Amino acid sequence: MKTSLFEFFVPTKILAGEDSLSNLFYELSLLNSKKPIIVTDKGIVNAGLLKYVEQPLREAGIEYIIFDEVPPDSSLKIVKNIYEIYKQSSCDSIIAVGGGSVIDSAKGANILIAYNSEDLADIAGADRIDRKLKPLIVIPTTSGTGSEVTSVAVIADEENGLKLPFASQFLIPDVTVLDARMTLSLPPIMTAATAMDALTHALEAYLSLQKNPISDSFSLTAIKLIFQNLYKVIDDPKNREYRLNMMIASTCAGVAFSNAMVGIVHAIGHTLGGMYKIPHGVAMGILLPAGLEFYYDTRKAEFEEIIKLLNNFLEEKVKDLIEYVRNVLTRLNALTNLPIKLSDVGVRKSDFDNIAKMSLNDGSIVFTPKYAGIDDIIKILEVSY
Ligand SMILES: [Fe+2]
Repeated sequence: MKTSLFEFFVPTKILAGEDSLSNLFYELSLLNSKKPIIVTDKGIVNAGLLKYVEQPLREAGIEYIIFDEVPPDSSLKIVKNIYEIYKQSSCDSIIAVGGGSVIDSAKGANILIAYNSEDLADIAGADRIDRKLKPLIVIPTTSGTGSEVTSVAVIADEENGLKLPFASQFLIPDVTVLDARMTLSLPPIMTAATAMDALTHALEAYLSLQKNPISDSFSLTAIKLIFQNLYKVIDDPKNREYRLNMMIASTCAGVAFSNAMVGIVHAIGHTLGGMYKIPHGVAMGILLPAGLEFYYDTRKAEFEEIIKLLNNFLEEKVKDLIEYVRNVLTRLNALTNLPIKLSDVGVRKSDFDNIAKMSLNDGSIVFTPKYAGIDDIIKILEVSY
């Protein structure tokens, strides 16, 4: 079979290990950074995680500034605050320590720094950034978003009730440090929800219109690591090996979808996130089985490949991938209280038409391997209710 032209791009240096942060100083020196701003949130500070970042900097005599005010949803206001503190303190690089909101806020601030401007809305959209940004090191504290290797960021414009999307290769972090210690205290429900986000990235990238043999290999590695480690990490959350494997899985899934993109499950999930503030990973888990049903008839060979992969290492025999994913979700619900139905998270059936229309306007819908219409989305919503 002839493979059509494709692109694959991963410029991020990935440093992974049980205490990989001990190399942070060396990475900063390679980036010629002498005074970073650490962007994080109060939850990370209160969990005592910042010491793993500060210690190697202090030992190396590196001066740094801490900004720990990032809220659960990144906003223009916060991005501007980071930009102002960065300028006032004459920083020269950014270290983002946190989950999706922290990483997106750091990316947003990095745009403002490069443009020395206060208006991000002017630069929103795809490929609007035309210059290199300051060095960005990302230290994830969840295993789900993949933002540590992706070219995208979403910032809320609260005044105008908009979510501003940014996509540019200049947003891809220079370095990501996956240190198992950073996710050890993640609560079980968050572990399950973020894992469902990573799994959905891997699966949607593998089923996408823009998939290619290289993104496929990252998807399959992520799928394997998630199913090998998910129950183990929930059962033994302080186990560094399982935690690190989940971090690597999430990053692999991030690499896969940064190149192959995601699809209909994300399109609907973004809409539900905007309308009902449903946490992204929770929405992914709820929608994934019905979303897979949508993909099945055009991607039967890919489903077979995943089943073959699972049967290489799982003790139980998997015949039907969708049924297997449903069983995983039921078990996660029993173990962690992860919501697995739309009716559990306050979605109203009377909103289905609206949700479907909005989802069709989401950028991710473009990459589904077959036409998706309003009826397809309503069917996914009904099955997921
Ligand atoms: Fe996602």
